[in-house]
Amino acid sequence: MTTTPADARPTAAAPPAPSLIRTLPGRAYTDPDVFRREQQALFERLWFCAVRSADLGRPGAFRTVRVGRESVLITRNRTGRLRAFLNVCRHRGAQLCTEESGEVRRNLQCPYHAWTYDLDGRLVAAPNLQRMPDLDRTERGLVTVPLREWLGYAWVCLADEPPSFEDTVIGAAVERLGDAAALDRYRTETLALGRRLSYDVRANWKLIVENFMECYHCATIHPELTDVIPEFADGLAAQYYVGHGAEFAAEAQGFTVDGSAGFGRLPGIDDSQDRRYYAVTVRPQVFLNLVPDHVILHRMFPLAADRTLVECDWLYLPEVVDAGADVAKSVELFHRVNVQDFDACERTQPAMASRAYRDGGVLVPSEHHIGGFHAWWAAQLADGDG
Ligand code: FES
Ligand code: FE
Repeated sequence: MTTTPADARPTAAAPPAPSLIRTLPGRAYTDPDVFRREQQALFERLWFCAVRSADLGRPGAFRTVRVGRESVLITRNRTGRLRAFLNVCRHRGAQLCTEESGEVRRNLQCPYHAWTYDLDGRLVAAPNLQRMPDLDRTERGLVTVPLREWLGYAWVCLADEPPSFEDTVIGAAVERLGDAAALDRYRTETLALGRRLSYDVRANWKLIVENFMECYHCATIHPELTDVIPEFADGLAAQYYVGHGAEFAAEAQGFTVDGSAGFGRLPGIDDSQDRRYYAVTVRPQVFLNLVPDHVILHRMFPLAADRTLVECDWLYLPEVVDAGADVAKSVELFHRVNVQDFDACERTQPAMASRAYRDGGVLVPSEHHIGGFHAWWAAQLADGDG
C-alpha cells in the first residue's frame, strides 16, 4: 500500500499543482486576421455587454456602441423599454446616428434623405413616400438586435440564433463565482453610478483578460491592493478557486486606497461575504468585482488587435451617490489597479510580435485557469469557422 504524505494531498483550499501549460502564440495577439475571426466568432456571436441601462434614462435617449464590426444603436422607446438596432438606414445605408450618445424628441431621422424611424425601429415617414407605392414600409424598418438586461446593463447579441442568456451569461458567471459569492445579494441592478472612467489601452483584449484572471503580478505591481488584501501578494487571484472571497487585511477598514473606511455594506451582504473581495470574468468582455459596499464593473470594447477601450463603472447604493458622498478613496484604489494593469498589458503587447514569443510563453501553476480561457477561446473560434 502506498500512502500520500499529508502535505502532498490536494485539499479543498489548494488544487493540485498542474504542470506548466503553454500560452497562446504571439500572433494570437497581433494578427488582424485572428482579430477578424474573433469579431465573427465571439463579439458578433455571443452576448455582449453594451451599455448601462440607466445611461438611457428617458425615452428617446440613445447610445451607439461598437459590437464586433457593427455599430449598434440602443435607445429607450415610448413605453420605457430598451431597444437595439443595427445603426444602418434601410434606404441607402447611411449611419443613422453618428454621435456616441444623444437624445431625440420623438423619432430617429437619417441625416442623408430624412427617412424617419420611430423608437421601435418602424419606418414612419420618408420624403415623397406617396410617390413610392411599391415601398413596403413594414419591410424597411431598422434591423432589430436582441437585447437582455442583467445587473443593470443592456446586453446585445448579433447572432442569428443567440445562445441561451441564462446558460452562457448568468449561469456561467454564477458557476465561476460559486454560491459563496451569491451574486444576487449585491443587487447590482439597484446600484447607482458613482464614477465612470474610460481607458484607451494599446493592448489586445486577451492580454487584459489574462491579466485580470491572475494575481501572480500583484506583489510586483499592486502595492495598494496587496496592502488591503495581503493574500494577493502570494500570487493567487480570487478567480483561482471557485467562490473564493479574498479576505481584507485585519487593519483595513474598507476597500479604499489607504484602507480607510468605505461605506456601509450593501443590504444583502451577510457576515460570510463581509470584508471579502470576489471577482469573475463574464466572457467575453466583462469583469465583475464585488466588495461589501460597492461593485466595480469593467466593459471592454476591442477595437483592433492591439487596441481595447475599457469602460469601468464604480457602483454604490443610490443613497450614497444621491448624498454626494466622497467616493474618491474607493475609486482611487481600483483606478490605480487599472492603470498598473493596463501599463503591464501595454508593455507586453509589442513583445507579442517578437520572435522570442513566436511559440508563446508558459502559464505557471497560479495561472493555470488561464489555460481554461485559452481552451474556451480556441473552441469558440473553431465553432465560428465551422
Ligand atoms: Fe438614410 Fe437615405 S440613406 S435616408
Ligand atoms: Fe492586476
